[in-house]
Amino acid sequence: MQATNSQNLNYNSGTSFSAIEEQKKQKKVAIIGCGYVGKALASYWYTKDYFVTGSTTRKEKISELENITHNPVVMNGNNLEDVESFIKDQETILVSIAPISDRQVSAEVYAETYISTAKNLVAVLNNNSTVKQVIYLSSGSVYGDKNGQLADETSSLDVDSKYGKILVEAENIVLGLNREDVQVCVLRLGGIYGPKRELHKRIGRMSGKTLPGNGESYVAWIHLDDIVKAIEFVHQKGCDGVYNLVNDLKLTSKEFCDLICDRQQLERVSWDPSKPSFSSLNARVDNSKIKGEGYQFIYADILV
Ligand SMILES: NC(=O)c1ccc[n+]([C@@H]2O[C@H](COP(=O)([O-])OP(=O)(O)OC[C@H]3O[C@@H](n4cnc5c(N)ncnc54)[C@H](OP(=O)(O)O)[C@@H]3O)[C@@H](O)[C@H]2O)c1
Repeated sequence: MQATNSQNLNYNSGTSFSAIEEQKKQKKVAIIGCGYVGKALASYWYTKDYFVTGSTTRKEKISELENITHNPVVMNGNNLEDVESFIKDQETILVSIAPISDRQVSAEVYAETYISTAKNLVAVLNNNSTVKQVIYLSSGSVYGDKNGQLADETSSLDVDSKYGKILVEAENIVLGLNREDVQVCVLRLGGIYGPKRELHKRIGRMSGKTLPGNGESYVAWIHLDDIVKAIEFVHQKGCDGVYNLVNDLKLTSKEFCDLICDRQQLERVSWDPSKPSFSSLNARVDNSKIKGEGYQFIYADILV
């Protein structure tokens, strides 16, 4: 798939000379994957004094990005030339990609999305002099099943499950970028909730139903507003390395579902221990490191 814009940062035609000069002074930020999180970041960065480039894999989505980015681009991380053209002249790259599906996808599609994009990004960054920062969104699920133990950024990772292994490999590829002048920050996110992904609706739909597993696995969550705030925090601070981005709550799936159902006076969810749980994570993911950097959560212990 070709990038729609033959040249990135091809400032809008009809823009006056002085406006073009102003745009050239703006910091250039680019988001690979304007989905739920990517679009929220784009909207936020668009209000700041940044020149925002944002990508989608689908031409029909470009119109959605026109009001929240200065430069919407169709590109695919699997395509080296797309990635090369996308990052040209950029300063900060946010990678916020996930396989396009509302269902569980195959491990092959998972690998094509995460590993191919990570490899292409690192390959083109090795020949790029403008990019100074990469912020890569990963998942707290990389810790896998730790029997409910605490997991911090130094804990071992789940390389036994086929999906976990792919996420870990993609992280390692990005972290392996061998450029001293480029900061690489990996944020391991909890399950994302927020507007249009409201917990009361998602869990409410499961009220009275039976879910697989015993409900004893620990889950981790993060609100969209905290993701936006934390990305801007690591962006401004120039954080390097891996950070967990989950809220303070350390609840098992059962405790979590009970809380949301009770709050709405709905029948609780039941559990079937004879079936494997949906979630591969069973760890109390620790967020001390990002707090230690000075990040203050908006929703530390409140599930809104
Ligand atoms: N959802 C969760 O609860 C959760 C939990 C932990 C971590 N995360 C991580 O958080 C990040 C954001 O998740 P999200 O919920 O915002 O995802 P999302 O809404 O599904 O958006 C994913 C974006 O990635 C793009 N994309 C997919 N395949 C691509 C490829 N091969 N090349 C380039 N772009 C590609 C999609 O393109 P289109 O615009 O064409 O759809 C879309 O813009 C992801 O990195 C995800 O792994 C999510």
